[in-house]
Amino acid sequence: MKFHVVAATASLGGLLFGYDTGVISGALPFIRDLFQLSEAMQGFVVSIALLGAAVGAATAGSLADAYGRRKVILVVAVLFVVGALVCAAAHEVVTLLIGRAILGVAIGVASMLTPLYLAEMAPAEKRGGVVSLNQMCITLGILLSYIVAYLLSEVDGGWRWMLAVGCLPGIVLGIGMLTLPESPRWLAGQGRHDEAADALSRLRDDGDVTAELNQLRTDLKARDGQIAPWSALLAPRVRIPLIVGVGLAIFQQVTGINTVIYYAPIIFEKAGMASTSAAILATAGVGVVNVVMTYVALKLLDTAGRRKLLIVGLAGMAAMLAILTAGFAVGTEGALAWIATLSVAAYVGFFAIGLGPVFWLLISEIFPLAVRGRAMSVATVANWGSNLIVSQVFLMLIAGLGSATTFGVFAVMSVGALLFTIALVPETKGRTLEEIEAGFAGDAVKA
Ligand code: GLC
Repeated sequence: MKFHVVAATASLGGLLFGYDTGVISGALPFIRDLFQLSEAMQGFVVSIALLGAAVGAATAGSLADAYGRRKVILVVAVLFVVGALVCAAAHEVVTLLIGRAILGVAIGVASMLTPLYLAEMAPAEKRGGVVSLNQMCITLGILLSYIVAYLLSEVDGGWRWMLAVGCLPGIVLGIGMLTLPESPRWLAGQGRHDEAADALSRLRDDGDVTAELNQLRTDLKARDGQIAPWSALLAPRVRIPLIVGVGLAIFQQVTGINTVIYYAPIIFEKAGMASTSAAILATAGVGVVNVVMTYVALKLLDTAGRRKLLIVGLAGMAAMLAILTAGFAVGTEGALAWIATLSVAAYVGFFAIGLGPVFWLLISEIFPLAVRGRAMSVATVANWGSNLIVSQVFLMLIAGLGSATTFGVFAVMSVGALLFTIALVPETKGRTLEEIEAGFAGDAVKA
């Protein structure tokens, strides 16, 4: 079995993460009108999935260690299908909320396990591309959801189909996972060495896997000797990387990206766009920018470097948010729709070239091995938690403070994120994980 078959199947987890987070943006205006939802309730329909995701991300690691990666991803695939169908069939808000919560758990688990499983299945030289592949799939999933939403936006009850379509990749993921082997790394960690050898030889069709198997055992022994308790997260040498990881997790959300990803059509309506379907079309344009700029970022990460991309991206985000703020403050009707579309598209482009992919990459690079798994899950849960808060309060802020002030707050947050990055985020390009760890240790000694 070639690695690209494994990659294509498992990365459906990333695609579904994107699809099911993005699809609500096109469905929400219709759901709002049908169920007569207040701002707070619209926020809840969006954010209950993020609550589920925070719970899913918090439990994914231990579930996958106990039951194996493959089994947990299979369950996730079932949850994706069930959640989509429950949402699509909802005739009361409660049912919709239940469906969204189920989808949320699936999204949260997938956000941790898709990159983990892929990294464990990949041959060593391909491992580095896995995090990037996942972010690419997330943005493709978001774009796909926008296109589906646009195509169905004029259809009666189309929002149900938008949500239902999410079960198709879920079904493919489930069937695909049935045919893929368990992670050899997990099997070896369980002492199931023969099965690990079998799985590995299925994965590497070019013959002898003894060398790789021995390497795996040596790595695991080294790791077992090193696994540190939760309290190790408080050690001085972990402090700075943890502040960087959790800080970027929070900044990635409080600079407002998902208010655009989840609410773009509503923002465009407020900016005076003529119809919901036109607003959803503009949203699809934003989705294209997201995919293209993520691709550009992935090409540049190893040449320009992570830190430079972050700095350029954040400066651009702050500038675009300032323009959007000014647009809402003084813009006249026709002009505002254009200012909003262009500045929102450029803002998403600047996010996609920096903070979007760089956050997920950095949290896989900056923590000492002994605490890496735990620190990454803390950062991931912090990311979902702040996403939850921002997405819940966004419409209420717009209703209470007005659009200009709300986007002004995000602009200020972006400036904060920029200063934080300049002060604390190291360049990790071209350095081994050990060198990165030693660099932070040097800082801790200096401090
Ligand atoms: C990143 C963020 C996620 C956001 C996405 C948009 O993956 O973590 O919250 O929806 O980028 O492309």
